[in-house]
Amino acid sequence: MQLTPWHRPVDSRVRVPGDKSITHRAILFSALSGGESELWGWLEAADTKASLQLAEAWGVSVVERSAERLILRGPGGRQAWSEPLQPVDCANSGTTMRLAMGLAAGAPTGLLTVLFGDASLSLRPMARVADPLTDLGAELWTRRGGRAPVAVRGSRLTGGTIALEMASAQVKSAVLLAALNAKAPVTVEEPIPTRDHTERMLTAMGTSLASEAAGRGRRITIEPHPEALRTVNVRVPGDPSSAAFWAALAALRPEGRVRLEGVSLNPERLGFYHLLASMGAEVGYLEHGSDPEPWGDITVQGGRLRAVAVQADQVPAMIDELPLVALLGTQAEGESVVAGAEELRVKESDRIRATVEGLSRMGAAIEETSDGFRIYGPSPLKGAMVDAHGDHRIAMMLAVASSVAQGATELLGQASVAISYPGFFDTFYSLRQKAE
Ligand code: S3P
Repeated sequence: MQLTPWHRPVDSRVRVPGDKSITHRAILFSALSGGESELWGWLEAADTKASLQLAEAWGVSVVERSAERLILRGPGGRQAWSEPLQPVDCANSGTTMRLAMGLAAGAPTGLLTVLFGDASLSLRPMARVADPLTDLGAELWTRRGGRAPVAVRGSRLTGGTIALEMASAQVKSAVLLAALNAKAPVTVEEPIPTRDHTERMLTAMGTSLASEAAGRGRRITIEPHPEALRTVNVRVPGDPSSAAFWAALAALRPEGRVRLEGVSLNPERLGFYHLLASMGAEVGYLEHGSDPEPWGDITVQGGRLRAVAVQADQVPAMIDELPLVALLGTQAEGESVVAGAEELRVKESDRIRATVEGLSRMGAAIEETSDGFRIYGPSPLKGAMVDAHGDHRIAMMLAVASSVAQGATELLGQASVAISYPGFFDTFYSLRQKAE
């Protein structure tokens, strides 16, 4: 698709679709309960549809499905699950597959779940989930090299302490979900705090879970709870990782302004917004509620951007926004560095390589490092032929980059936005029209 530069900066309110992480969890966790779970404002996108299909294979039924509301009836907890008759397609969704591995490991003894994904997901590391689950006594098999497809057989797990090597909310969640069917409590230690949506939701569903700071990270202990849990009833806030594209669009120009309405204000998700403020944008927060996830409005006003350095302990709170940090770095004064972000290499694409390739083609002074990138700014961007490499977040970052480039940008792979934000380009064009 061809994208041409914007003549005027954005100045608008925006409402983004529901949070992807919370929607995945609400759908999958409904399989742990008996009654009707209600998800207001759920994200209906390719990734979350994969979770829905999997939940249905375990016996969850859809009672009502509209753009505003999804009502699901749980089968009555894991003890009442049906065994999926066929391998289940997790498509492009790492969250679906990893959380499912933990759920399936604690399924009734002998119940087999086989999970596969698309070409990208089949290359992503699953041993990081399989290994700690195996330590708890889980029965599971991966393809050579710890890749999908994955087969998981339900079994009664042992308790104990699992110290995770990497900061990953997906791995942490898989262990906590498996632990509900263990014989004794399980403690998970994470080296750096990651998003805590699983902990909040499982607590609201009636499990006994304690979370405390431990060094620079966090220690979470969960008691076994093999019986059915309470239903999930959530008002899913807007996704701050989707809203981040509009925040960047505004911040790239001194007169750019945007009000992001009704987004999640979970502190573990706001790293990018705090970074924007330290780069020189004006960022404001207005909390409207907390049930159990805090949500409200975020306002962003552009300014003269200064270079910034991101280190490993800041990475989890902005993991999905780092390609945008690189883009902002191209327009900031000085040398920006993102380090400790080697996780980006095993996302939906190698996001270090894809970001550096795309922005270099547009004329940025950016270098790849083993664990991030180095950007020298400010440097003018020019339109070019760029490729999203099938990765939704790279596609959206490059679309935002085209707004400040000189000349037209030809974006390949734009259809990937359907993974997390199907209406992205509708909003992109409507914001542009309002600005002109
Ligand atoms: C997610 C956690 C993050 C993030 C992903 C969604 C989640 O992955 O990148 O988009 O919902 O738990 P990791 O936990 O593997 O870093």
